[in-house]
Amino acid sequence: MEKIKLAAEIINKSEFTVVLTGAGVSAESGIPTFRGPDGLWKKYSPHQLATYEAFLKNPNLVWEWYSWRREKIKAAEPNPAHISIARLERIKEKFYLITQNIDGLHKRAGSQKVIEFHGNIWKEKCISCDFKRESYEIYKDELPKCPNCGNLLRPDVVWFGEPIDHDILQISFDLVEEADCVLVVGTSAVVYPFAGLIEFSIKSQKKVIEVNLEPTPFSDLCYISIQGKAGEILPQILNYIVR
Ligand code: APR
Repeated sequence: MEKIKLAAEIINKSEFTVVLTGAGVSAESGIPTFRGPDGLWKKYSPHQLATYEAFLKNPNLVWEWYSWRREKIKAAEPNPAHISIARLERIKEKFYLITQNIDGLHKRAGSQKVIEFHGNIWKEKCISCDFKRESYEIYKDELPKCPNCGNLLRPDVVWFGEPIDHDILQISFDLVEEADCVLVVGTSAVVYPFAGLIEFSIKSQKKVIEVNLEPTPFSDLCYISIQGKAGEILPQILNYIVR
């Protein structure tokens, strides 16, 4: 309990709070993580499903997999971790959320100041022209085609080996640079450049608070590291946040 009270005290004193999240935040909504015990990458190969080369080689397989994830996400609800972060946004004057999650559950929980660092599963883009759209389709047989040029549409998410949009990267580092408190929730913190935001926050002596089920490479370097479920820990922290 001491760590929870201390975390809340730091957030209460914070002039500018930035929250960084990963798949662990959505785990209690029934969305599998990637590297946890039942993580997706334990069952599936990221190289067969989450690279541009894999998509060109077998677009049916890749869309089958994203459709399966769309169905799971459609059936899911934001959990107390998402809801706590949305509440914190309404309480803290200066606040921003940067998430690796493509599931859109933060926004469904009411978060507005959100950067989706790895894109969004409900967005699609053409592989050759600059056509983009939002779609809630679950593709079974027919793959989505671009209405402009007829080429394939792909999920508008960042795959392995692909760069992060330059503006998103710049804004994200500017936000953590301006922050005085960085709350990191539900990420194994091994995927860069997102993990670089955590590294930068620690090196520039921000008050970094980590909430994660398992230790991460940064746990010992954080100001506070709380091990546990985000859906249980974050509501407890919110109980001590001054409105
Ligand atoms: N509460 C808090 N943390 C949790 C919970 C929970 N209920 N359940 C799992 N975790 C933790 C796990 O211990 C793990 O450290 O969440 C972390 C999830 O880590 P990953 O599965 O590696 O997910 P993430 O860090 O978001 O992955 C980064 O990798 O696969 C790519 O693009 C994908 O955005 C993803 C990126």
